[in-house]
Amino acid sequence: SGLQEVLDEHKISLRRRCERVTEGTDGTGSETLLNRIYTELYITEGQSEEVNTQHEVRQLEKASKMETLHDTPIKCHDIFKALPDQQRRIRVVLTNGVAGVGKTFSVQKFTLDWAEGSENQDISLLVLLSFRELNLIKEKKYSLLRLLHVFHPTLKKVTAEKLAVCKVLFIFDGLDESRLSLDFRNREVVSDVSQKSSVNVLLTNLIQGNLLPSALVWITSRPAAANQIPPACVDRVTEVRGFTDAQKEEYFRRRASDEELSRRIISHIKTSRSLHIMCQIPVFCWISATVLEHMLTTEQRGELPKTLTDLYSHFLLVQTKRKKHKYDEGHETSPQELTKADRKVLRKLGRLAFKHLEKGNIMFYQEDLEQCGLDVTEALVYSGVCTEIFKRESVIFQKTVYCFVHLSIQEFLAAVYMFHCYTERKTRELRTFLGKDYKYWDSKPSKHFGNNNSSYTFLNVLLSDAMEKSLQSKNGHLDLFVRFLHGLSLESNQRLLGGLLGQTENRPEIIQRAINNLKEMNRSYISPDRSINIFHCLMEMNDRSVHQEIQEFLKSENRSEKRLSEIHCSALAYVLQMSEEVLDELDLKKYNTSEEGRRRLIPAVWNCRKAVLSSCSLSEISCASLASALKSNPSHLRHLDLSVNKLQDSGVKLLCGFLESPQCRLKTLRLSSCSLSEISCASLASALKSNPSHLRYLDLWGNNLQDSGVKLLCGSLESPHCRLETLRLSSCRLSEISCVSLASALKSNPSHLRHLDLSGNKLQDSGVKLLCGSLESPHCRLET
Ligand SMILES: *[C@@H]1O[C@H](CO)[C@@H](O)[C@H](O)[C@H]1NC(C)=O
Ligand SMILES: *[C@@H]1O[C@H](CO)[C@@H](O)[C@H](O)[C@H]1NC(C)=O
Ligand SMILES: *[C@@H]1O[C@H](CO)[C@@H](O)[C@H](O)[C@H]1NC(C)=O
Ligand SMILES: *[C@@H]1O[C@H](CO)[C@@H](O)[C@H](O)[C@H]1NC(C)=O
Ligand SMILES: *[C@@H]1O[C@H](CO)[C@@H](O)[C@H](O)[C@H]1NC(C)=O
Repeated sequence: SGLQEVLDEHKISLRRRCERVTEGTDGTGSETLLNRIYTELYITEGQSEEVNTQHEVRQLEKASKMETLHDTPIKCHDIFKALPDQQRRIRVVLTNGVAGVGKTFSVQKFTLDWAEGSENQDISLLVLLSFRELNLIKEKKYSLLRLLHVFHPTLKKVTAEKLAVCKVLFIFDGLDESRLSLDFRNREVVSDVSQKSSVNVLLTNLIQGNLLPSALVWITSRPAAANQIPPACVDRVTEVRGFTDAQKEEYFRRRASDEELSRRIISHIKTSRSLHIMCQIPVFCWISATVLEHMLTTEQRGELPKTLTDLYSHFLLVQTKRKKHKYDEGHETSPQELTKADRKVLRKLGRLAFKHLEKGNIMFYQEDLEQCGLDVTEALVYSGVCTEIFKRESVIFQKTVYCFVHLSIQEFLAAVYMFHCYTERKTRELRTFLGKDYKYWDSKPSKHFGNNNSSYTFLNVLLSDAMEKSLQSKNGHLDLFVRFLHGLSLESNQRLLGGLLGQTENRPEIIQRAINNLKEMNRSYISPDRSINIFHCLMEMNDRSVHQEIQEFLKSENRSEKRLSEIHCSALAYVLQMSEEVLDELDLKKYNTSEEGRRRLIPAVWNCRKAVLSSCSLSEISCASLASALKSNPSHLRHLDLSVNKLQDSGVKLLCGFLESPQCRLKTLRLSSCSLSEISCASLASALKSNPSHLRYLDLWGNNLQDSGVKLLCGSLESPHCRLETLRLSSCRLSEISCVSLASALKSNPSHLRHLDLSGNKLQDSGVKLLCGSLESPHCRLET
């Protein structure tokens, strides 16, 4: 008694909190009913691998092709329900998804459906907490019960006894925004809801089931942060994939005021592959829709944006214009221009974006703002006017948290700021970022390098230094930033941003020089994934020549006659990777290019059935890229030939992760002469034992495996999951000892092995005798 009333009151309060949403805006923007705009998202069980090592935008490009995979889509309200063929109870769910993909919308929709009494009514109490709010607690100690009371005052009357009889669901939204780290190695056990501890400890105990063992827990996170939670603690991992193509269109239809407008928006998005891919993220749909609606419904002439820089520049203007409209109605003098005040604030925001980009910081507090010269009232006015660029989230304890509505907006403003530093010769800021001294350039724009070498300007130096820095990043965290930076060097984009960038110097030879620099960039140590970004930068600079040459190349009769440069190879890799058609065979030797060019083609392996990468001077770095290409969509590849490359054990270990993936269908793997030792055998053995293993043909010819390596392999041959039919172990430095292991494997039931090549080893008579013993076994099916 009494409890039901409290719970009912709580439902009403949650309903009020979740029924309205502000799409990408702060509280001052227009609010919409969630149920009106909610478009079903594509949520799947399991997750694409490699999620936490790749830049989110790159992942997205790959993910856009993944709809063909047979993942099981799950409806948001079924997230705790087992699938028909699953027996287990699902208590802890972890939902991954890139920034802006709609995780918080899913949480809100789930909560609203519950609070309205339409779904999941077996749950008696739903507690919604965001990490953003939990951050504010810092080191203070609370009990779980107290935490409920603080964040949900309606629950004040809920006692420990009452909580014990409720079926509770805790939703923790946005683990990536947490400034506390979840430490699962900490052994402190908390099992009483009244026991005080740090938030970190409370959470780990709740997740591990020490505290309220029957409570359901749902955590959402961007992929990069999700690995804080050990897989063993999670019953189901789901991934929010954003919009499918049909859902993208539905979104634009729901949003636009009339059908004709939505039709035009959809058709424009489809003409630009990069925009179309990005629209998988709902936030990006919103950015595109904002810009295109505005451009299509106002008098404005001119081309619709096709590059990202173009689109984001328009977005900045549209948002600023909105504010003008709101505050000085009737005074729309020059709608396309930023005022001096706008520019000032935008630059400060740019500075904030720039400073925190390197650190990967996406949440800011008042102190962070002040450090960039933004005072809070200014930020408030600004977020009140140019609302949709900067999101202000008022939270409990009256402390305000700020963030950009999407990471890409932060990346764009950071590029704007860096460009501004260039025009203003703020060499100190540039030096901090790029780690190089630019005092030579500390002169006004019209002057050039001391030796009057006017073909190589300060801008060219900066673009190539920024590119260099981005290429060194492992996960590509600066990829979009450098794309924007290159895009901003174009006069058309500078004109759009009118004065925000400062006084620029526009000479065609500077642009041409920058384009040539991109085309000539040639490093042997960069990962092929990073080098594809060089091609994207060219596209941002509106240079279509490489793209066209590749289209012609693909049409040509005799491809080997055309010498491909490194940048051609990056473009080709991108085109092949994105192609609707799966390539039958990719043989790197058939391309007339340099070694580095061949390496740059590796990402295309992702979209082919047979890949011949033999004798291409691949190294461990190439393996990492290959593994990443394969893991994100491994279902096509059947044959992989990596012979005669210095992969070494570490390289093979990276690849084997992919072999164990349930989606891997690889049948043939050639690793002859790859400088492998017995260590590789351990990785391979584990892959062969995985369920189900599709591998039928394994060639290890010419590696220093030795008897100990073969012993490891043979252990897996006896596993019922191993279906290997051909094993080539010639010249692997084996002795009669290997024959003991092999003989036992051949006698095992069932043995699938048909062909065994042991030439070039010192087996001696005693070894052969052992082998012959097993030939007599009824299980041995050896043919060759
Ligand atoms: C560079 O040298 C050329 C020819 O020597 C001259 O005409 C030009 O004015 C010089 N430019 C600058 C910026 O000094
Ligand atoms: C101009 O400077 C660049 C960069 O320092 C250099 O590579 C190029 O050879 C120079 N060109 C001339 C004509 O001095
Ligand atoms: C890139 O380097 C390779 C050697 O690794 C060389 O063969 C090739 O010509 C270079 N390409 C360019 C465009 O400089
Ligand atoms: C393609 O060109 C290569 C090299 O010029 C030549 O060896 C080959 O015979 C040509 N193939 C065809 C089908 O013309
Ligand atoms: C590679 O391309 C160059 C330049 O087009 C050509 O001269 C050469 O014959 C080609 N090589 C092969 C093996 O076809």
